[in-house]
Amino acid sequence: MTSPAGNAIEATGLVKRFGDKTALHGVDLTVKTGTVTAVLGPNGAGKTTAVRILTTLTPADGGSATVAGFDVATQADQVRRSLGLAAQDATVDGLLTGHENLTMIGELHHLGRKAAKARADQLLEEFSLTDAADRLAKQYSGGMRRRLDLAATLVARPPVLFLDEPTTGLDPRARAELWDVLDGLTARGSTILLTTQYLEEAERLADDIVVIDHGRVIAQGDSRELKRKVGGDQLQLIVSDPAKLDTAVAILQRGAGSDPVVDRQARTATVPTNSGVAALAAVSVALADAGIEVDDLGMRQPTLDEVFLTLTGKPATDDDTSATDQTLQEAVR
Ligand SMILES: Nc1ncnc2c1ncn2[C@@H]1O[C@H](COP(=O)(O)OP(=O)(O)OP(=O)(O)O)[C@@H](O)[C@H]1O
Ligand SMILES: [Mg+2]
Repeated sequence: MTSPAGNAIEATGLVKRFGDKTALHGVDLTVKTGTVTAVLGPNGAGKTTAVRILTTLTPADGGSATVAGFDVATQADQVRRSLGLAAQDATVDGLLTGHENLTMIGELHHLGRKAAKARADQLLEEFSLTDAADRLAKQYSGGMRRRLDLAATLVARPPVLFLDEPTTGLDPRARAELWDVLDGLTARGSTILLTTQYLEEAERLADDIVVIDHGRVIAQGDSRELKRKVGGDQLQLIVSDPAKLDTAVAILQRGAGSDPVVDRQARTATVPTNSGVAALAAVSVALADAGIEVDDLGMRQPTLDEVFLTLTGKPATDDDTSATDQTLQEAVR
């Protein structure tokens, strides 16, 4: 069910134009079988467009792609049989109950009525929706609805899952619940491509992260690799006594070999270092010798928020700003 290279998804040079607007400018993407890749980007970055091409819902204007080893342009039927899609807009029917929705999908997949009902029961149980099985989907909370969407993609046990912003609009608790559900899927070795505007979510769920902005891949790697791109580790201290900050800064400067950034208000000094633990140990000893107490001393990695800011030079945003643009901007701030 995969290409010879063991990649469940392979895309090369995907281009998509809408009139004179180019939504994708040649996107490359690889998802290894059994891994989770997050496509991370702000509103309008091209996430949904990429997902729609890979799931055969829209043709590309350039480039090529395979899913489960099948070509999305010439083997669309095989591609569709290999994937489950939870689209950005809920796909379940609000006027059917949770159980009816899943049973209907099972029947569409030729499971037969009895088997379709059994599969629906099983999925409702797995997604903690058994109590809500006989309620109309439109009466579900946002989090329940997303879980039902996810269950719907799994009815036919497809090897490759596409989840377009699975947690956007959910409150923190519902998001955490959905993350747990996704952990369960990944533990079973599902191949997942998910899109998200949340740096934290990409970091939490994905083996690999592809950052896209205005239809271009601007970075990729695991979260550690992405973080390394913005200058490696930082040595940071917080002094207990503000009067000792200048002495501590001098010690930090000697230990790391470059000038620290100082935040007097926060009693904090931070300096990039390549010598990691050795520098940390040297600074720790020198501080003790000088009788300087610290509230905190340690190595910190840049956050993914800082990575995005460094890569794009600005908080991510689309040209045509909409209300939900806030999500990433808030995350980046
Ligand atoms: N059917 C369409 N017709 C015209 N322009 C489109 C169409 N679909 C998408 N676009 C444009 O292509 C760009 C990429 O849109 P896309 O929906 O892929 O972004 P996205 O990353 O999914 O954003 P969001 O986070 O808001 O869902 C945007 O500028 C969008 O306005
Ligand atoms: Mg989208």
